[in-house]
Amino acid sequence: MLCEEPFIKPWWGNLREEIPNTRYAEKIFERAFKLERLLVESASRPLDLALSEHQRALRMGKNDRNLLGTALYSAARNREALISSVGVNYEAGLLLKIGFLDALGSVNSEILGTFSNPDELLEILDEVRGKREVWLQKIYDEWEESIALCSSETIDALCSLFSIPKVFIEAGPWRSLYEAAKELARGKERQALHLRVKRDEDLSKKGIEELSRAGIDIKFSTYTTYCLIIDNPKNIRGLQTFRNGVIEIQDEGSQLLVEAASSFIKGKVLDLCAGGGGKALAMSDIAPEADIYAFDIDLRRLNGIHPRIRRGGIKNIKTLGSLDEVSANAPYDFVLIDAPCTSTGTIRRNPDIAWRWDAESVEQIVNTQRDLLCNSVSLVKRGGVLAYATCSLLSVENNLQFESFLKEYEDVFEEVVLKPTSANPFAEKENRLSFGARLPLDLGEYNGDSFYLAIARRR
Ligand SMILES: C[S@@+](CC[C@H](N)C(=O)[O-])C[C@H]1O[C@@H](n2cnc3c(N)ncnc32)[C@H](O)[C@@H]1O
Repeated sequence: MLCEEPFIKPWWGNLREEIPNTRYAEKIFERAFKLERLLVESASRPLDLALSEHQRALRMGKNDRNLLGTALYSAARNREALISSVGVNYEAGLLLKIGFLDALGSVNSEILGTFSNPDELLEILDEVRGKREVWLQKIYDEWEESIALCSSETIDALCSLFSIPKVFIEAGPWRSLYEAAKELARGKERQALHLRVKRDEDLSKKGIEELSRAGIDIKFSTYTTYCLIIDNPKNIRGLQTFRNGVIEIQDEGSQLLVEAASSFIKGKVLDLCAGGGGKALAMSDIAPEADIYAFDIDLRRLNGIHPRIRRGGIKNIKTLGSLDEVSANAPYDFVLIDAPCTSTGTIRRNPDIAWRWDAESVEQIVNTQRDLLCNSVSLVKRGGVLAYATCSLLSVENNLQFESFLKEYEDVFEEVVLKPTSANPFAEKENRLSFGARLPLDLGEYNGDSFYLAIARRR
């Protein structure tokens, strides 16, 4: 019987026993209700932006800021589940209360001590618990079924339990209910901060020493020595080693992706969807001899790369200001399309992603990806390489997208077989890499975002 599966945990911990009566409850709730408007507004804006604006407006102290942030994120992580449990349309105050409880479960006992009247909250929790048992039973009943054979009530239960829209299940790669639940449960965890340290022995050693002196605990990734994992990030941006570009903030998945493609990154390289330049910078470090051209349709985002280039004294990245310039510099030996996507693979860091997508918007982004792939064909030199990447969990954006591109351009491109290496142990098939999503179910030490990478060579 799989009912004892440990990964579907209650999100509130043992609060009944843990919440003592103290005098600060009212203050915390007052703050929580001030966040109500923020939660509502953030449905149309990224949560992190809305939160930081709100924090600035309230001129909060650091502890309050942290607490509110934690509460807000936990409410966001459980939004759908809470709405369906308590049967309200959207009562942000209630969500926030429960969000606080969730946050408290994993913050510390000092904060737990600030509640003076937990009874009302515990009542709500009981109600949520009851619903949760019903959902779990439905899921357990069809645990090993393929998603296509599950009843719609079971799919609804899964979506409510994990606070995700149905489209994530319908468009996903899940082979069974068990697999979907496992991956989605992982999406509810908090995630450590990852840093990329420059591939220069002396500089990286000094950087790591400075982090340690600043009291920052460092864990090294199992998969790449250049990724540092930080559970207690403190003022990283203020450190000399950050200011001189020796360390960059970058998720382990992004780093592994560039490493997995590294043998192809040479000659003239185009980062077509460079955003703020995370992958371009990683490519520059891994392939210092390459000439890297970075473009993004959103030039304001692309501008974020300039201070990073300056900090690191980087010489081999140029930015392009228009699609005409992209074409004028073609053809390229290596074109990376780090495509705009649902970002479902980053849901731990951005729980509000779950609220942002429906079937229609998923279809739109899939169309954009297809256009990007097709429009890039002429940018790739004969014998050159096209790399397609997403940070999505969904098949429609990954395998299905790439396979349909290959089919359409079978006379022009052939797929390059990517073998798993020690740095990239997570091959989904023999020929495409997928970090995070569709892993062998034992995730091992990997704790980064979910990424997908597929590569084709122009004939
Ligand atoms: C996943 S993000 C890129 C992240 C970036 N590569 C990094 O490592 O930080 C996708 C980017 O694609 C850009 N984008 C969307 N449509 C585009 C298009 N048609 N051409 C170029 N860039 C596009 C978006 O502005 C966004 O910055």
